[in-house]
Order: sequence, then structure tokens, then C-alpha cells
Amino acid sequence: MSAAESCRGHEFGEQGRRRLAIVRGKGTFLWDAEGRRRVDLGASHGVGNLGASHPEVVRAIRDQAAELIHLGSGYASPVRAAFVEKLVALLPGSFGPVFLSNSGTESVEAAIKIARSATGRPKVVAALRGFHGRTLGSLSATWRRELREPFEPLVPEFVHVPYNDPAALEAAVDDRTALLLLEPVQGEGGVHPASPAYLRAARSAVDRAGALLAFDEVQTGLGRTGRMFAFQHSGVVPDLLLLAKSLAGGFPIGATVTTPEVEQRFRGTHHSTFGGNPLACAAGLAALEVLVRERLAERAELLGRRGIERLEGLVGPKVREVRGLGLLIGVELRERVAPVLARLEEEGFLAVAAGATVLRLLPPLVIPEQQWDLGLEAVERSIGRG
Ligand SMILES: Cc1ncc(COP(=O)(O)O)c(C=O)c1O
Repeated sequence: MSAAESCRGHEFGEQGRRRLAIVRGKGTFLWDAEGRRRVDLGASHGVGNLGASHPEVVRAIRDQAAELIHLGSGYASPVRAAFVEKLVALLPGSFGPVFLSNSGTESVEAAIKIARSATGRPKVVAALRGFHGRTLGSLSATWRRELREPFEPLVPEFVHVPYNDPAALEAAVDDRTALLLLEPVQGEGGVHPASPAYLRAARSAVDRAGALLAFDEVQTGLGRTGRMFAFQHSGVVPDLLLLAKSLAGGFPIGATVTTPEVEQRFRGTHHSTFGGNPLACAAGLAALEVLVRERLAERAELLGRRGIERLEGLVGPKVREVRGLGLLIGVELRERVAPVLARLEEEGFLAVAAGATVLRLLPPLVIPEQQWDLGLEAVERSIGRG
């Protein structure tokens, strides 16, 4: 194993796993150290909606770095104000205050604290198969046992209910509930879209109980599912909207967007040294400009529909089901996904898994049509050859 392959730092406890070393990226292409180019069908689990190192994001980071990298929280920041204004303008009028942090898990932590404080209640209801991050609060809402068990006891008063089951949700959300936390499409859990009826039931359950509703759109937000935000497919508006991954074009960021009513009820304080730093905000401003100008949500809808229709042709002895929304697509196999990913990689396409048997395709939204078609062909071959 070369130094590049064995050098980690971003994860802990996964020694010995083979890794392809990538040194450069542009658009949908990623290059290894030997100069071999591959097409990215995974977009770093949804970070790369604009592709790798989008030139406008690169320019914004360079310019801002030369101007001011960091600013203490005691000062107002014009670039932060401009970014927040641009983000809020993409949302329905009910949204307002935004808490900025540095990652998806932090956006979830903030939502848990805000909801507990605003309601004065302890309980958080989340879903089976849900994934919300790996710090202790968000991990308490994450479902997979092997991610949770080594770190128990976790935060008390978290319960999990079956997804897409309105009756289970009605029963669980009660007058002790602060927060109902759901992904509109479960990403890590295997690409399961919520039905609009389920999300409507979620809204009425929290309204009845006086709890708050948070949609974790860390993976689904910002065009990925064919709308700017996945909740727009159902028209159900949450009280808290959680964003991260692609929000700053690949630069670390997290955002917990909420409403003036929720902020008014909040007691206490919450803060982050690096949250809302000028570099992240400049990158975010550039990324949102590209996303809107290039109508990437519409593109995701178009290419996603084409992809799902085509991949549905694979359903049969090897494929159980194809699910998805926009360019977030899961192909559930009747066998393990690892060999399919390896065959795809041999062909020069990089995709990711969502659990042991689901192939997840979430390419950059800027993927050229022809590359997407070649990618789909490669997926068909890689599954067919098994
Ligand atoms: C829906 C969802 N929420 C939260 C997270 C955690 O984000 P991060 O890894 O930036 O902490 C993820 C990451 O995959 C996610 O998909």
C-alpha cells in the first residue's frame, strides 16, 4: 500500500481498507497520481453538486483568502450577510434566522439544541434507517446499531420509528416531543424517498403535539433531488432545515435554517468559532450563484428521471428495486454491492454504496448528458457481468 493509500486522518477505526488515491479533480473527472482519469458518479456523497473545484468557487475562495480568512464572531461580516440573504431568498418566506457551522453533524446538533430549548421538552423522534451524523447528539438520531453501540450510552430520549409509516409517527410524537427529525429521502440508509403523504402526516403530528419538525437535507438539499430542496416535492415546510455538503461548493459548511418564531422561543446560546467564516461564506455565495444560474435542480430532475427509467430495466434476477428522486438514485441488488463498485471502478466510473446491497448514484449535477449515459451503460454492464 502506498503512502497516499495508507495515509488517513478523516476516519478512525477502518484500518487496512484499500483506498484509491485521488490527487486532482475538475468537473466530473477525478485523477489518480498516475494520471488516470475517472468519472465521478458519487460526488463525494453529495458534496460535489457543482463537480470538483468549480472555477467560480475557486476564484471566490482565492479572492476572499487574500482579503480576510477569518473574522471573530464579535464582528459583522458583509460576505456572511450576503450569503445568508442569498440562501434565505431561495426558501419560502417563513424562513429567517440561519445558524452557520462547519459540517452536517453540527447542523443537526444545533437543531437538537434549538428544539429542546424552544419547546422545553427532551424527546427527539427519528426514523429507522436514518443517518444524521456521528457526533453524540446526531449519532443518537442515527439508526444503524453498529455505528451507535460502541459509544453508548448516547443522549437520552431519542426514539426511532419505521419510515414512511404515518401511524407509527402519530403514536411516537407526543407532548414530551421537542423534535421530529427526518430526511425527505434517506440517503445513507439506502435511498428511500418519503411519500408526500408521510411528510404531511409528519407536519400534522408535530403541530398537534406542539413539537418542531426538522428536515435533514444535508444530502438532498440544493438541487440534488430535482427541486432546490427536497421538501418542495411535497410542499410540506419544516420548522428547521439542515444543510451542509454541497452548500459551499466543497468547502466545509453547515447551516441550520429556522424561523423567527422558533428563534423567539429559543433560550440560551449556541456558537461556533469557525461557523460562518468569510471563506466558507464566499465559497457558498459563489456556489449558490452557479446553482441558480445554471438551473441545476431542473437538470437533476431531467437526468435523474432518464436514469431511473433506464435502470428500471435492470429489475430482475440481479436487481430487486430502483428508487430515487432527481439525481439521487439507489439500485438495490439481490447481492452485495462491493463487487459491482469494483467492476465500475475498473471501467473508470466511481460510485458509492448505501448499505451492503444498494448501489448509490449521485453524480455532480453538472454531469454532461453523454457522460451520464456512458455511466449508466457501465452500471448495466457491471451488474450484468456479476
Ligand atoms: C442526511 C445526512 N445528515 C448528516 C450527515 C452528516 O454530515 P457530516 O459528515 O458533514 O457531519 C450526513 C452525511 O452523510 C447525511 O447524509
